[in-house]
Amino acid sequence: MGDQPLLEVNDLRVTFEIANGYVEAVRGVNFSLKRGEIMGLVGESGSGKSITMRAVMGLLPPSAMVSGSVKLLGRELIGSPAKDLRQLRGSRMSMVFQDPLTALNPVLTVGDQLVEAIRIHNPQCTAKEGRTRAIELFRSVAIPFPEKRIDQYPHEFSGGMRQRVVVAIAIANKPDLIIADEPTTALDVTVQAQVLELLRNLCEGSGTGLVLITHDLGVVAGMAEHVSVMYAGSIVERAPVDDLFDNPRHPYTRGLLGSLPQLTGEIARLSDIGGAPPTAGTIPPGCAFNPRCSFSVERCQLERPELRGFGPTDVACHLAQAIPAAQTRVNSA
Ligand SMILES: Nc1ncnc2c1ncn2[C@@H]1O[C@H](COP(=O)(O)OP(=O)(O)OP(=O)(O)O)[C@@H](O)[C@H]1O
Ligand SMILES: [Mg+2]
Repeated sequence: MGDQPLLEVNDLRVTFEIANGYVEAVRGVNFSLKRGEIMGLVGESGSGKSITMRAVMGLLPPSAMVSGSVKLLGRELIGSPAKDLRQLRGSRMSMVFQDPLTALNPVLTVGDQLVEAIRIHNPQCTAKEGRTRAIELFRSVAIPFPEKRIDQYPHEFSGGMRQRVVVAIAIANKPDLIIADEPTTALDVTVQAQVLELLRNLCEGSGTGLVLITHDLGVVAGMAEHVSVMYAGSIVERAPVDDLFDNPRHPYTRGLLGSLPQLTGEIARLSDIGGAPPTAGTIPPGCAFNPRCSFSVERCQLERPELRGFGPTDVACHLAQAIPAAQTRVNSA
């Protein structure tokens, strides 16, 4: 049990049926996560970050076809009955969504929602015990006056406080795995730092594994041990966080980090990667990044690169070895 990965994802694929055919939104994703580990998942809008992690949680609409393997502590989740997944969600794994307002029910007090989250997985817990535990949880996420706040409705909370409620619900049953999808995007910098600190303490203290989806590379640098970079439904690079920032190998990662060498000698920013990312239905053959890549050669248009190991880094690029190393750094959060 000791060395068993918390989460193992192998060849995960998600295809949606649409009016005139199918689109593959997740195209063979592999990664694993240890207990207590924080993994950052980054990539431009539409690259498949949310769909990948919703597939892990079993939270996709019926129009999605999912294949591959997702194991939580050795237990296969893909193909598991919906009622087993429901039981696991909220007890062994939980998700923090970007928008705390839509994650909460506006007509129930925040306390009732938290107590329900506790009692649904602990049927022996009385309403009174649930309330005591809910107040403790509110205190642990630094909500002031928890005894009073617990009886209020979501609209009586500020954005930052609502996100703390959502985090309290996510951690209520001490899950093994938390997936946080842009958990702090809506928050101001101070509150963002507090929410991240809370999640980090939980991982360190309880061995919870965290997948942190974010657009903010500063947040990744400050929080994650490993980072995976997604492009067009695949992981194109994954590495320990320092290696990724010190020596990004995929041209896309370099672009994301603002270190893509340009002919003009200027440093490029993300917006300077020419063109837009493909959407799920329009992914080109070969390397999906090739139309935007200034290093692209014929092979890149024909053959899809697999992830290959270069020291601590895995990268899916035919030219990973040939392109000169780039040095870059971002300020950590
Ligand atoms: N129900 C659906 N039917 C068809 N295609 C979908 C559906 N949901 C998502 N997609 C497509 O799947 C792809 C991945 O979407 P996803 O939401 O995972 O991106 P993301 O990386 O989370 O982006 P963002 O950073 O904007 O949150 C997109 O191209 C999207 O259009
Ligand atoms: Mg998303």
